[in-house]
Amino acid sequence: MKLSLRFVLPLMLVLAGFAYALGPLVDKLTTQWFVRDLEIRASLIVNTIQEPLQEQLAAGKKAKIGDFFSRISQDERLFAVGYCASPAATALASRSLPAEIRCDQLQRWQGPGDHLLPSAQGPLHVAVRPLVNEAGTGGNLVLVHDMSFVTRRSEETKRYVFYFFTAMAAVISLITVVIAQLSWRGWMAGMQSLLRGEGLLRQPAANTPKHASEFKPIARDLQRLIHELEAETRARDESNVTWTPEALRAILHGELRGEDVIVVSNREPYIHQRRGERVEVQRPASGLVTALEPIMRACSGTWIAHGNGSADREVVDRYDRVAVPPEHPAYQIRRVWLSPEEEAGYYYGFSNEGLWPLCHIAHVRPTFRSGDWAQYVAVNRKFAKAVVSESKTKNPIVLVQDYHFALLPSMIREELPDATIITFWHIPWPNPESFAICPWRDEVLAGLLGSSILGFHTQFHCNNFVDTVDRFLEARVDRESFTVSFGGKPTAVRRYPISIAWPPEPDMVQKPVMDCRTSIRQLNDLPPEHKLGVGVDRLDYTKGIVERFRAIERLMELNPEWIGRFSFVQIAAPTRSGIDEYQHHEAQVRAMAARINTRFARQGPPPIILKVEHHEPKAVYEYCRAADLCFVSSLHDGMNLVAKEFVAARDDERGVLVLSQFTGAARELAEALIVNPYDADQCAAALHMALTMPAAEQRDRMRLMRGLVAEFNVFRWAGRMLLDAAAMRRRGRLIEKPGSQT
Ligand code: F6P
Repeated sequence: MKLSLRFVLPLMLVLAGFAYALGPLVDKLTTQWFVRDLEIRASLIVNTIQEPLQEQLAAGKKAKIGDFFSRISQDERLFAVGYCASPAATALASRSLPAEIRCDQLQRWQGPGDHLLPSAQGPLHVAVRPLVNEAGTGGNLVLVHDMSFVTRRSEETKRYVFYFFTAMAAVISLITVVIAQLSWRGWMAGMQSLLRGEGLLRQPAANTPKHASEFKPIARDLQRLIHELEAETRARDESNVTWTPEALRAILHGELRGEDVIVVSNREPYIHQRRGERVEVQRPASGLVTALEPIMRACSGTWIAHGNGSADREVVDRYDRVAVPPEHPAYQIRRVWLSPEEEAGYYYGFSNEGLWPLCHIAHVRPTFRSGDWAQYVAVNRKFAKAVVSESKTKNPIVLVQDYHFALLPSMIREELPDATIITFWHIPWPNPESFAICPWRDEVLAGLLGSSILGFHTQFHCNNFVDTVDRFLEARVDRESFTVSFGGKPTAVRRYPISIAWPPEPDMVQKPVMDCRTSIRQLNDLPPEHKLGVGVDRLDYTKGIVERFRAIERLMELNPEWIGRFSFVQIAAPTRSGIDEYQHHEAQVRAMAARINTRFARQGPPPIILKVEHHEPKAVYEYCRAADLCFVSSLHDGMNLVAKEFVAARDDERGVLVLSQFTGAARELAEALIVNPYDADQCAAALHMALTMPAAEQRDRMRLMRGLVAEFNVFRWAGRMLLDAAAMRRRGRLIEKPGSQT
């Protein structure tokens, strides 16, 4: 409206001024027109009165002629009439004939000029016409017209001209404003769709405005500018922030206006188990839980997960919620119950026999069954309903975790179109050829593209995902901004390397390292100076436990001085034991440990101490603090947080990390001894190097790694995602309502 007034008022003023400036011209033109009219009128009058006048002259009735003229000049416009028989004669005239008009000066009114005579009542027009009789001439008739009506008419005309221009200004303004509004809306719609990435990309969507191409360059520039500004702000924000729970809370309250966060994962952070009369609370062996739990403590909100503990149903309220952590409740777990059929199809089947081996290059064939897929779809739908029922607003922030919920983002998007959905894929993403074997690959991709942000640990996995989408879906892929548009809103594909809480909970590092060394050695019947290695994993074939044992065996072969002087404690948390492949793997691991131990048993403690049982985080930390080295030999791993936990546990700056090059962690922890787990000789050499590494070198390496984990901790991981989500929300508001930010 303001804009319209800003345009209309000046236009009206200009046109009104123009109308005003036309005044003299109007005067001149109307005078000319009326003078011409009066000339014609004069000729007409002369023709009309010529005959009666000549009759009266012929009859010598000169006296009556004055009266005759006076009668004629009662006409509204005819002011006076006179007759001059000759230049020397006295005019026979009506009484009103001005004195200036004399017979001897008639030529003054006959030549070229406007023949106007000023008078007290306004200008007079004087016309002289010869009277023609049979003899040839018969004197001149003088007709004087009152011109004051011309001035009146001229004034009226000027008024009408002014009204006309003013009305014209109003109409032009109105039309212009309407057209401008319509074009502006069209322009904005085009620009908005382009800024959303719908028109910039390779294949324009059917609903992309036709004129979008006109805006492409400008929209590209704008997009680039927005991304640069965001990147700059993020870099500045990131480098200025010390990433703590408080910093995360500040982001949530400042940038996201205190929005509640909803996390969805399959695994719950606290499992209630019945042990006889008691209910025990267990913390599962899960990198995901390790990372997300401190985030939820900091942010509050709700964590929706599958309730599978034997006492889980006993402790929830009537909304299936329970407050955790048990000691100091900070957030809610909302438990979703699954039937054995649902769990078999969704969790064991499609998630862990299908997607898990599909995404990990561990040489285990994926198995896809349509029955599993049906359960996977149904369970994703069930969780989507839980998200909707837990969300307090129409636009919650939902953090969807992992491959169990590939369909969840688009299902949430259907119900809550304004939700900000951040999906994090905790495992690797394979190349398009590998992924193509999934019979429901398009559905999986489409489901994930319901996310606002889709995160992976490494850029390599982001690239694989975008390549896969590009290969199989009719989606628009913008490789500059790493954004994919499929159907609805665009999805930003980003790298967010996950991490752990820093500093570790005081409880975890409370026991001095020396005490840990002593107690762990005592617990395992090892001499005080015995060298100790540690591995902590779920008993999963992707973790390379078989390869790890082979490397230990090779170490004993290549460096027999370690036989009886070095033992490796493998903590292996039982996992997914309902799956044949896992049962087979467990049997293989147990058999291998037994074989190697038998082979080297004659000279003291065994090389491998295998503990296939769940260990609480505190116990894991104690082992990490007690060990001389930690060996992570995953065949393929999105990140591997055990590597980072080992570093976090070593506040004494001692201990060596031997790390598989196929983990995401290897890209960050460059000071570890990086190995190829398939190369047993190389791994054995690395183990030997670790066992003989001077304390100073251990300290230098550990210090650098600790610095990195401290800086790139899990609060930064979550903070970056939330900051990106906040920027996305801001951009969304800007695009929806362009005026609202001005
Ligand atoms: O590594 C992938 C992952 O889903 C992790 O996020 C999690 O730590 C682990 O697997 C848990 O596996 P499960 O829940 O099947 O025991």
